[in-house]
Order: sequence, then C-alpha cells, then structure tokens
Amino acid sequence: MRKKVAVIGAGNVGSTLAQLVVQSGIADVLLYDVVEGMPQGKALDLMESAPLWGVSVNVTGTNEPSDLEGSHVVVVTAGAARRPGMSRDDLLGINADTVRSVGRDVALYCPDSVVIVVTNPMDVMAHLCWSVTRFPPERVMGMGGLLDSARFRTFVAMELGVSPQDVEALVLGGHGDQMVPMPRFTTVRGVPITRLLPPERIESLITRTRNGGAEIVSLLKTGSAYYAPAASTFQMLRAVLLDEKRVIPAAAYLDGGYGVEGLFVGVPVVIGRGGVERIIELELNEDERVFFEISVQAVKRLVEQIVRP
Ligand code: NAI
Ligand code: 2OP
Repeated sequence: MRKKVAVIGAGNVGSTLAQLVVQSGIADVLLYDVVEGMPQGKALDLMESAPLWGVSVNVTGTNEPSDLEGSHVVVVTAGAARRPGMSRDDLLGINADTVRSVGRDVALYCPDSVVIVVTNPMDVMAHLCWSVTRFPPERVMGMGGLLDSARFRTFVAMELGVSPQDVEALVLGGHGDQMVPMPRFTTVRGVPITRLLPPERIESLITRTRNGGAEIVSLLKTGSAYYAPAASTFQMLRAVLLDEKRVIPAAAYLDGGYGVEGLFVGVPVVIGRGGVERIIELELNEDERVFFEISVQAVKRLVEQIVRP
C-alpha cells in the first residue's frame, strides 16, 4: 500500500510541497486547509498532472480534519507568512493558536505519524506541536536548518563561481535571526571555506544567509519564500518515507544534547522511518558555542511565552 502524506495548509509552501511529492510518485497526498474549495481545487489540479509525470498517486483536498486519518507523515505549514518588516518571531501570536488546533487534530486522527513543522516561528511551533500532540519527541521535527544551509551553500557557490552541488554547508540553532551558519563545517568538495575565502567575505555570506528569508520577503512583498522551503521539506519527508537515514540539520528535541534541556533547536540529525533517529553531537569551539547559546536563548524566550506547563 502506498504511504500517505498530509500537508496541513495548502498555501504557497504546502501546495509547492504537494507538487514535489506528486512528481516523485512516492506517496499519496492529502491537502488540508480551512479555506473552502481551495485544497480541493489544488488537489484536482495536481491529480491531473499525475498522468504527465507518469506516476500513480492519489491527491485529495479537504476541509475536514478527520481525513488526516491514515497519514504516515504530516507536514504543518498552516498559518500566516510574514510580510515586509516582520520577523519570523512576529508570527508567534498569530500562528500559535493555529498550530495548537492542528496539533490536536493530528494527535486524534493520526497518532502514529511523524510530524514535520514548517510554520514560523518554526522551532517554537515544533515545540508547541510536540507538547499538544504528546508524541514521543523523535516523531516531531522542524524544517529550517536545511533551508538555511541551502541558502548558505547557494551564496558560497555564487561567491566562488562553483556549482552549489559541490558546496556543503551547515547552519545550526534556531531558524531565526540568530541562526548560526558554521564556516568551519562549510566546504567545497571537502575544502573548508575558511581556506578559500577571506574572513570578511565569509562574514558577509553569513549575514546574507541570516537575512535570506527577509531578502525574499522584501522582494515578494506579499509573502515569504516557498520554492526552497518546499524542496527542503520534501527532502526531510522523503527521508522518513523511504527510511533514508539522511543526515540533515533540523529542529529536534534536545534533552541534554548540546547542553540544552527540553527545547527544539536546529542540530544535525539522522532522519529515517522513526523520525529523528539520532542526534549528531558536534564539538563546537568557543565562538560557535557562544552564538549557538544566543540562538537557543532566543528560542527559549519565545517558547516560554506560549507553551503552558
Ligand atoms: P500561505 O499563507 O501561502 O499558506 C498558509 C496556509 O495555511 C493558507 O492557505 C491558510 O488558509 C492555511 N491555514 C491557516 N490556518 C489554518 C488551519 N487552522 N488549518 C489548516 N490550514 C490553515 O503561507 P506559506 O508561504 O505557505 O507559509 C506557511 C508558513 O510556513 C508560514 O508561517 C511561514 O512563515 C512558514 N515558513 C517557514 C519556513 C521554514 O523554513 N520553517 C519557510 C517558509 C515558510
Ligand atoms: C524563510 O526563511 C519565511 O522562514 C521563512 O524564508
């Protein structure tokens, strides 16, 4: 039997992700949204693309939470996206109620699923989703580090005039303005960028990565990025569906790892059928630890505002 992916929120990220899943042919898709008719219309449109991609998948659109039943992976993209001048954190109040209600539905209708949270502020929303569903922490993760790393890879590739495929990068910490791009773990075919670029150029690429989401918001003016976010989320859900054991930076529940207790923050993890199957503990140097701690504290302050004990 084919696996089923539920995408909650059929907006820009959700529908682009649904298209990637359909094209890949690896799972049936349920598109769920509160707007009447919209997820049904997008689902039918996507379904009509299946013969062209040569895939045999079902795509269904719904406004009915009980249709989540039977989903193996649930992706939460429901909620508002930011507009020019807003930080991801400004979405906290708006999106917390949405994620709380979505979390209750997920717990009720697909209690064995693995959940990938995209809604911003993502690390906090992953924490909220975990606390509402009461799922084991390994079955809840947040997408952010993979997108931020992809942006860093892109900017390094543009700077050096090489293919982004040949650049590996790592961004740790929360998916917010205090994220921590890690030049020491960013390489071109194994060569650290610290050997390829002067410190001031690296610093400018780090700043551009930190502002990567805002740069796109300021150009789009009506919403935020969705192609790279959907592609990043797709990689994570494919790792779960196909039990790929991919090593991916993602927001995962830290229970002492990296010196953090009881918080979702971006670190490298192994993703497979069970969700976050392992947390990879890197030895951070003094500077990296300071920046990581600043990012952790930023996430923690937001979590304390919304997660009721
Ligand atoms: P969008 O506005 O295009 O789509 C959001 C959808 O959620 C809308 O269709 C809306 O009707 C729906 N929705 C609202 N309340 C709902 C509910 N209770 N149940 C089901 N659906 C509901 O926004 P977009 O661009 O798709 O972004 C979605 C979220 O993802 C935003 O919070 C955005 O900030 C975040 N995001 C996070 C990224 C990350 O790296 N973690 C990257 C890109 C976006
Ligand atoms: C981004 O980084 C808005 O979090 C989203 O593009």
